[in-house]
Amino acid sequence: LRVVVIGFGSVGQAFLRMISEGGVSSSGLWIHPRVVAVADSGGAVVDEKGLNPREVLEVKRREGSVAADPVHGRPGLTGLELLRDVEAEVLVEVTPTNIRDGEPGLSHVREALRRRFHVVTTNKGPLALALPALMELAEYNGVQLRFSGTVGGGTPILDLGREGLFGNRIEGVRGILNGTTNYILTRMAEAGLPLDEALREAQALGYAEADPSYDLEGLDSACKLVIIANWVMRMESSLGDVKVEGISDVTLDQVRRAEAEGMRVKLVASAVEGRLEVKPELVSRRDPMCVDGTLNAVTYRAEPAGEVTVIGRGAGGSETASAIIRDLAKIRMEAAKLIA
Ligand code: HSE
Repeated sequence: LRVVVIGFGSVGQAFLRMISEGGVSSSGLWIHPRVVAVADSGGAVVDEKGLNPREVLEVKRREGSVAADPVHGRPGLTGLELLRDVEAEVLVEVTPTNIRDGEPGLSHVREALRRRFHVVTTNKGPLALALPALMELAEYNGVQLRFSGTVGGGTPILDLGREGLFGNRIEGVRGILNGTTNYILTRMAEAGLPLDEALREAQALGYAEADPSYDLEGLDSACKLVIIANWVMRMESSLGDVKVEGISDVTLDQVRRAEAEGMRVKLVASAVEGRLEVKPELVSRRDPMCVDGTLNAVTYRAEPAGEVTVIGRGAGGSETASAIIRDLAKIRMEAAKLIA
């Protein structure tokens, strides 16, 4: 598989580290992605014969941009220009989430699908704004759009709901979908830290969005909820359909009172009876969904299977890159079936 990587922050770099040995095993299935181009905000590095991932990582570390590569560097080349120019089978789109207009990720995904590249993305913006239209574009062009890392990092929240619970009707979903706010609320409850101090700690852990107000105001959770609603519950929805309230107004006093009653204040995202909502709620400490720290948890109410909960780390460079590997392996398997 020839792969183009656009976006080279912690997830993109973790992905290149994982494949730097030449191949990677996804549950025993070996895949050997050949990275032919990497783009970051300074430009791109391109070699259609295949780049050496270790060299790309080293140039990024030393110079700040992959475009500084003395032989294959293309300073100033944008992701979109790169996509129009390069030959490949897959785009790995890992630029940061922008929920205003989804850009530049949205244009990258559209252009790649039009060029009949499969797309793997961890960028929530394009999907929260336009998932149904992008799926249609992928189908029209006969390629796959995969995004399992957009919700839960490496924890297979989407796959559990869509594939694991296949055969059930998903009647509702409730979950903690944002690690940053969960960490903040946990520190407020356990150490009595004020919100802004706990936020600084969460930022130091590297979980917060480039713009942390996405986390605090519930928008990151709302994006993930929309992706679950579309993909698992087959609702055609977008970000504007979610009623969102963040944690900025949660006080230490509220957190302490909840604690005294065996509860925790959690930022809960829910899709019940067609209503999409993100808001702080009191959750019993005995509820399996009541996880602490940076963990994510989702409970699906499935009929007839009943309630099924998945818990795991919801972010992190290598955790999220593992979802990219999973998606690439599935693209390979699916493509092999089409050829067979
Ligand atoms: N800012 C997000 C979080 C990162 O805290 O969960 C993963 O999407």
